[in-house]
Amino acid sequence: MIRAAPPPVFEDAAPDEDPARRSRRVFAGDLLVFRRLPAMARLTEHLNTRLCAALNDPDPETAEQRLDPAAFRSGIGAWRTALATDPLVRATWRETMETLGYRADSLFVDRLNGRSAAVRPAWRGRRGSIVPVHRDTWGSGIAMQVNWWAPIRPVSADRTMVLWPHLFAVPVENDSGTWSLETLRARTRAGHPDGYPLLPSVTRPVPDEDAVPVLIDPGDLLMFAGAHLHASRATDTERARFSLDTRSVWRADLDAGRGAPMVDAAGGEVQWAWFESLETGETGATLSPPPERPPAGSGLEGRRRN
Ligand SMILES: [Fe+2]
Repeated sequence: MIRAAPPPVFEDAAPDEDPARRSRRVFAGDLLVFRRLPAMARLTEHLNTRLCAALNDPDPETAEQRLDPAAFRSGIGAWRTALATDPLVRATWRETMETLGYRADSLFVDRLNGRSAAVRPAWRGRRGSIVPVHRDTWGSGIAMQVNWWAPIRPVSADRTMVLWPHLFAVPVENDSGTWSLETLRARTRAGHPDGYPLLPSVTRPVPDEDAVPVLIDPGDLLMFAGAHLHASRATDTERARFSLDTRSVWRADLDAGRGAPMVDAAGGEVQWAWFESLETGETGATLSPPPERPPAGSGLEGRRRN
C-alpha cells in the first residue's frame, strides 16, 4: 500500500508569532511546541514542588512503590485540587498566555488539570488519566478549541500522550453521537459514574504503530487543535507520568470563523460553558457565534448551542 508522506510533527514555535497566523496553522493540524517559556518553566517547577509535597515523596514517578493505592490517589487528588484552585497557578498560566499574545479578556479557558498515570490500575483511580483515543471536539463540539499539554515530570515514549497526526482530518468511527455529558453528570450525581465513559472515544481501534509520542521536557508547552486524535500511553512498567493540560477558545478565532475541520463529530451539544474568561471568570456560555455569522466550515452550523 502506498502511503502519503507523514506530515511534519512537533515544530518549535516562536512566542511572538501573530496569534491569528498561529491559529491558522494549529487548525490545519500543526503541533506547536514552545520551549522553556519563563512563565511556563516557573509554573512547571511550582507544580512539581506541590506534587512532591502532596505525595510526600521526592520521586513521584516511583512513589506508588512506597504508597498504598488509597494514599497515592489521595495525594493526587490533593494535588489536582491545589492546581485548580491555587491563585499563583492561575496567574502564571495567564502570564504564559499573555506571553503568547492572548489578552486575558479575549481568551476563554477551561480548568487546569493535573494528570497522573500510575503504572498499576489500583493506583490510578477513575480520573487516573489513561485516556482512550479521542478528539476533544467530539465532546465539546467546538471547532476552534485549542488544547495545551505540558509534562510536569520527564516523560518517555511509553509514558506520555500520543497523537495520530495523519488522522487529523480523516474520519474515524467513534461514539460521539451517543455519548452524553448529561448522562455522565446524572450518573455522577447519583453516585454511580463507574461504567460510563468520561468522554467519547473511538469504536474501532486505530493503528498504535502510527501513534506519535509527545517527547518534550518539563517547562515546554505543546499547543494543538482540540480536533487532533490523541490518547494516553502508559506502558512503562516502572514509572508513572505527571502532566498538565487545559483547553481554550480565543474570541478572535470565533469572530473570524477559524476552526479545525470537524470530520466525524456527531454529538449535538456544544460546550461553551466549559470555558470562562481568563480576565473576569465570565462564563463562556456567552461565546456562541452570532447566528448571522456561523464559522464557515467549522461544523458548528445547525448545532444546538448552550
Ligand atoms: Fe483530550
